[in-house]
Amino acid sequence: MTDRYAVIGNPIEQSKSPLIHTAFAQVCGQAIDYTKLLAPLGGFASAVDAFRAAGGRGMNVTAPFKLDAFAYATDLAPSAQMAGAVNAMKFEGDKVYAENFDGVGLVRDVVHNLSCPIQGRRILILGAGGATRGALMPIMDQQPAELVIVNRTVAKAEELAALALAHGAGSIPVGGIGYADLGAQTFDLVFNATSASLKTELPPLSASVFAQGCLAYDLTYGKGLTPFLQLAKQAGVTHLADGVGMLAEQAAEAFAWWRGVRPDTRAVIERLTVPLV
Ligand code: ATR
Repeated sequence: MTDRYAVIGNPIEQSKSPLIHTAFAQVCGQAIDYTKLLAPLGGFASAVDAFRAAGGRGMNVTAPFKLDAFAYATDLAPSAQMAGAVNAMKFEGDKVYAENFDGVGLVRDVVHNLSCPIQGRRILILGAGGATRGALMPIMDQQPAELVIVNRTVAKAEELAALALAHGAGSIPVGGIGYADLGAQTFDLVFNATSASLKTELPPLSASVFAQGCLAYDLTYGKGLTPFLQLAKQAGVTHLADGVGMLAEQAAEAFAWWRGVRPDTRAVIERLTVPLV
């Protein structure tokens, strides 16, 4: 029987995961069956139980089930523990291994695909929700010069800064602040990890934060020039990116974890790219 995988969420129609994993399977010569699974709210565990009973080998997890998957897992990888959420599961007998590849996908896209080192650079992350939390450990592992988390709700930024600081063993300066406290500081990489772009909103960010030669990166994808990227562009930033590469890279990590072979992501990124205009 062909090995079965799925992405589970609610809604799920919008998910690009089946397209991505089917493309990866083709280029890697792997025979897999990858489908979308709509689970009712509150029905995550029984939907996954049924999928496993029918021989399912692994799953990607999307909103709103990343915390349900965290609770469902028997073995949480450090990435999932640090993120407090799960985006990929692997089933082996009674075991449910769980990972979160979003952060590592982001870092791989930035460092490898966009050729933009994080090491030794000043990093600003907007937002202090799940997306930021997932990105913290992989970013800290790159040894930036400094990491600042800025959020409307300052207490959440402070909480994540404390987490990152503990992970970096205190060797990298980390701050958690409000937008008004940014002052005249400038940064080499600015990540928008808020959900503002999904609502076509702009975080209350001054255009002066972008340093010369800065990369402005919006973690959302497929939205073209978001208000955040527009602000960066108007400020003279020429290196702009959205999260399409992050999406492809987190999928490639899951595929490699499941199948033991890492697909090239270039064709998928090209196919899913929406021009930033
Ligand atoms: P996700 O899992 O996508 O990170 P989340 O956990 O709901 O989603 O977090 C959303 C983040 O976007 C939060 O940091 C939120 O700021 P608050 O904590 O102050 O609410 C941030 N956010 C959402 N809309 C925003 C906006 N218009 N401007 C600035 N920040 C915004």
